[in-house]
Amino acid sequence: STDSHVNVLGQYYSKDSATNITASIIDKLDRKLHQQPAHPLGSLRSLIESHYPSFTHLSNFTPLVTPAKNFDDLSFPADHPGRSASDSYYINKDLMLRTHTSAHEVETFAKGERKWLLTADVYRRDEIDATHYPVFHQVEGASIFPTNPTGIHDLEEDNARLADYLKNSNIVIEDIPHITGSNPRQPTHDPRQAELVAQNLKLSLNSLMLTLFGGRAGVGGGEPLRVRWIEAYFPFTSPSYEVEVFFHGKWLEILGCGVVLQSTLDRANVPDSIGWAFGLGLERIAMILYSIPDIRLFWSQDPRFLNQFAPGNIVPFVPYSKHPSCYKDISFWVPEQGLHENDFCDLVRDVAGDLAENVKMVSRLRCDADLANKHYRLTRSHIRKREGTVDVTA
Ligand code: PHE
Repeated sequence: STDSHVNVLGQYYSKDSATNITASIIDKLDRKLHQQPAHPLGSLRSLIESHYPSFTHLSNFTPLVTPAKNFDDLSFPADHPGRSASDSYYINKDLMLRTHTSAHEVETFAKGERKWLLTADVYRRDEIDATHYPVFHQVEGASIFPTNPTGIHDLEEDNARLADYLKNSNIVIEDIPHITGSNPRQPTHDPRQAELVAQNLKLSLNSLMLTLFGGRAGVGGGEPLRVRWIEAYFPFTSPSYEVEVFFHGKWLEILGCGVVLQSTLDRANVPDSIGWAFGLGLERIAMILYSIPDIRLFWSQDPRFLNQFAPGNIVPFVPYSKHPSCYKDISFWVPEQGLHENDFCDLVRDVAGDLAENVKMVSRLRCDADLANKHYRLTRSHIRKREGTVDVTA
């Protein structure tokens, strides 16, 4: 990058008064955490994809979008706060980092995709703490039906199938009316079709919540999963909802969703369709499912983090020190046959407990037939004070 240009993903873009992207954000653009199968975000993405086997699964869209794509195509008003430079990252006034996966709705529908999931990194300027980070990941899901008799018949059948599945599941749903005066259907929509789509959205997401949270420890042994629906507002859906799940004794906000605005589908050239979309944040869900206490850990390249996870495997995270490990060396003379490796390890364990991460013999010096000098390296999990090598000679 130079004074006049900024290098983003291998391309130079001219700067202007809107440019506010930073070096540390540019570093994140090619990490693709959600595409790493063993990473918690990759595993969670796979779990969600496995819940929608017949949907197209997309995950390779560039984070660079025009403000038109991120906002205008989705009917955001001209004065929406999300557009401001204090909330979003701009490369220049014509190009920005997407703030949500909904930015790809129009192009995905326009490609002819009717049922799809799209996973991507999204960027929002934010405060710094354990649950906020300027980069996070979302999964957008959408399903649209043709508004002809066949399409509506498919919709009804899907509703019956999902209702049947949920009836036989351990779930309690706190529902609200699909459509109300404050959460209206769109004027161009047939009232019955709008009801059926809103119902399909709720049934589909209730069953996704069962896949993600049903039967897990945080729900309480044998207790039903509790899901609640709340009226919401988004510029690009109507009616709109938020979904919350009761987990570890608290209501957690999981996602936003709604019936896709007809203007979005018109822009995508699929006017004779009706359907829904949702957007969920992966980090928030992964932090709960994996007991990961700090959102910054997802970006860790420390093997103590990464090696805890395998593809498709949701296991609780085992915390380790935030500080790098340090080692201490110890060497001593012992009779050649006098000390078994395991005896020494047990001694270390007795004294240091789990603070000792690793014990390794680094050299061994034999002087005469029955005396040896053994040199061990003890790695402990965090730094208190730097000290040199300690030699203990017996
Ligand atoms: N894009 C919205 C957000 O980031 C979520 C959303 C997606 C809402 C799709 C409705 C439909 O908050």
